[in-house]
Amino acid sequence: MLDQGAPAQNQIPAAPASQGVAARLMRRKPVELLVAEGGQGEGGQLRRSLGLWQLTMISIGATLGTGIFVVLGDAVPKAGPAVTLAFVLAGLTALFSALSYAELAGSIPVAGSSYSYAYATMGELVAWVCGWCLVLEYGVSVAAVAVGWGEYLNELLDGTIGVTIPASLSSAPGEGGIVNLPALIVVLLAMAFLLGGARESARANTIMVCVKIAALVLFCAIGFMGFKSGNYADFMPLGMTGVSAAGASLFFSYIGFDAASTAGEEARDPKRDLPRAIMLSLIIVTALYVLVAGVAVGAWNWKKFDGSEAALAAIMTDVSGQTFWGTLLALGAVISIASVVLTVLYGQTRILFAMSRDGLVPKALGKIHPKTGAPRLNTVIVSLFCGVLAAFIPLGKLVDATSIGTLFAFGLVNIAVIVLRYKRPELERTFKVPFGPVLPVLGFLFCAYNMFSLDTVTWVVFGFWMAAGLVFYFLYGYRRARLATGEGLAVTVEK
Ligand code: ALA
Repeated sequence: MLDQGAPAQNQIPAAPASQGVAARLMRRKPVELLVAEGGQGEGGQLRRSLGLWQLTMISIGATLGTGIFVVLGDAVPKAGPAVTLAFVLAGLTALFSALSYAELAGSIPVAGSSYSYAYATMGELVAWVCGWCLVLEYGVSVAAVAVGWGEYLNELLDGTIGVTIPASLSSAPGEGGIVNLPALIVVLLAMAFLLGGARESARANTIMVCVKIAALVLFCAIGFMGFKSGNYADFMPLGMTGVSAAGASLFFSYIGFDAASTAGEEARDPKRDLPRAIMLSLIIVTALYVLVAGVAVGAWNWKKFDGSEAALAAIMTDVSGQTFWGTLLALGAVISIASVVLTVLYGQTRILFAMSRDGLVPKALGKIHPKTGAPRLNTVIVSLFCGVLAAFIPLGKLVDATSIGTLFAFGLVNIAVIVLRYKRPELERTFKVPFGPVLPVLGFLFCAYNMFSLDTVTWVVFGFWMAAGLVFYFLYGYRRARLATGEGLAVTVEK
């Protein structure tokens, strides 16, 4: 029960000055406090306006995009027709973690997602590390997806009006250009929607998600007309090694199912709807992936795939004999990828909002605009950061590091489920991962296995990223964390 009657007051005791460093790094934020603070920011409240439908659309919006439209073309040469199996395997890795996300989102429904789950279970340092990984999963990947969007836009323009944006204006310095304008524009467009508030952004996202699902269903319908079962004769030409290699790169296509968990403070009934939205979106996305990949390798012999980014559009044109259908699919892809930018950017703003409320990042990121109920300053800062990253920085290996960062965060979520069950067995859980700790352990092992399949350079980049994060934490968050200062928002907490 929330103690509604008592006057609002800060319930966080300041860390005693005598507390040792280790104890301070392990300080945990009580679940009740996390939940009681839900929605509260500097100067206002987030608005609870999202239902199950919008939440599911947010997760699908963040998930379905570059992976299926672009990365598929690259994965088929590795696995042959067994690319379908590779999608199932990558989906399994996602599934175990999704179950853990669903349990935690149902019991700690806040905006910080895995960062907050880690704060409640494993303490501040692990929470910070997790939040820092989420900046890779969300912030850096927004920039990467925006760059991919620009490339697809150029292909669409080329296919329709025969014009392309010159390299100088569509690539970052260091990659032969001056500025990547399309990437910057799509991030700024997403920012404009987000400034309008969560409900407005969710509405725009829902329309875009419907368009992308329709585009993929259309692909299946047309692609099926060219289906030749003979294309499946040699199902696994490169063996399980090829399937694993394809699965590792296709894991990227599942990143984003957790986006609904960043909307915990804007959901109308988060405890009920968040677990459902996470699971529903994963089921829908996996079904679509397997279907689209199955039709693609049925319509085209796998040897025909040459790593081209627009393989799906090329199949449409080839099977129908008309460029119109290919162009329509390319248009669908442009809209789809834009919705990934919108929802992932949304997730990043909400995670930093939660971290700011805890004092681990500057307070500017926690201010709420009284009219829209959205963290406007945060949205502008985060969008400009991501926009500049996309426009001017050659992302190179940092992009590969998004997968490792995501896997790390997912791994922590699996551990958090087990820790919370042990420490807080009585806590209300609207969804519980079945079979005790077995599935979270499997989820953790899958994440670790995938992480270790990534190359050394990615690990080195990840190492530098984490080192930078730790320096920032010790210079800033360690002293300013509200659990250290005791300063806080006025909240009433569960007794
Ligand atoms: N899963 C997202 C995509 O494929 C990141 O674009």
